[in-house]
Amino acid sequence: MANSRPIVVSGMRPTGRLHLGHLHGALANWVRLQADHDCYFFSADWHALTTSYDRTEVVKQSEREMFVDFIAAGIDPERATLFVQSQVKQHAELFLLLGMITPLGWLERSPSYKEMRENITDRDLALYGFLGYPVLMTADIILYKATRVPVGADQVSHLELCREIVRRFNFHYGPVFPEPQPLLTEAPKVLGTDGRKMSKSYGNAIDLGESAESTTKKIMGMVTDPARKRRQDPGNPDVCGIFYLHKVYSTPDTVAWVDANCRTAGIGCVDCKRKLLEKLGPDQERMREKREALLARPKDLDDIVQLGTRKARDAAERTMVQVREAMRIG
Ligand code: TRP
Ligand code: SF4
Repeated sequence: MANSRPIVVSGMRPTGRLHLGHLHGALANWVRLQADHDCYFFSADWHALTTSYDRTEVVKQSEREMFVDFIAAGIDPERATLFVQSQVKQHAELFLLLGMITPLGWLERSPSYKEMRENITDRDLALYGFLGYPVLMTADIILYKATRVPVGADQVSHLELCREIVRRFNFHYGPVFPEPQPLLTEAPKVLGTDGRKMSKSYGNAIDLGESAESTTKKIMGMVTDPARKRRQDPGNPDVCGIFYLHKVYSTPDTVAWVDANCRTAGIGCVDCKRKLLEKLGPDQERMREKREALLARPKDLDDIVQLGTRKARDAAERTMVQVREAMRIG
């Protein structure tokens, strides 16, 4: 049966609970895509090993939480295929085959590879698997013949590599794979409670589905415009994480109201935060309830992931049949 909907693949490394940065940076976009795309969203557990090879126990724990977060955020398992990378062994087979045609220079020149080698100093990353990260990512994508890959700007260089590998494969063995394009939707900026980018490792995150109470505590303690020291000082919303959250959660009218009244000191930061919580609090509660309902039915969650994994495996195997044939091997 011909498939008329564009195929989308994206994955996330299971590294723990997701936060509002993940929600608005990636998940919200995934949720929108499932309406008119064939979506495959997966746990990149093998990719997680490239940096967590010495903490493998957290990978599986995090994975459960991550799938729960996906669904709480609005991913609908009836529409999107949710699966686990390591349970579809075809990813490993294609990864191996692509490794035969991927020049080392392409990998060594990858900007994110160089950057991570420089920034992560507490672990030895001079590893074959780490260097091969984008090759495995290429396999993840092209196994499903995806044409669109929603990723953050930091992953765009990986996708360029992916397209180069695809061109090389198609040149040697015939046109098996389409060239996937990154789907870069403008993600709103989400700052953490300390005013830096929201990140688990900074300890400044508000988790997806944190209780209204705990969310309120964090928001009330959140850094605002650092220059606005007293209530009567005018503020600059453009440097304030609360304002960025208003842009995500509040109506355009409220955003305009905050913008104007912050600059004239018409409102204080406490008023501004309370206003934000009118929407953010219930939104978080809704996701908390959804998370709890899912966690209370572990069997249902297992079924969802198992079913998705089976579906992914079938699609992946169909592609591998073509690959083996094109390469005259296996
Ligand atoms: N590298 C991605 C990240 O760190 C995760 C990932 C693995 C991925 N395989 C993928 C994303 C395939 C998109 C498509 O965020
Ligand atoms: Fe930030 Fe609102 Fe305070 Fe302005 S009034 S600095 S936008 S919290």
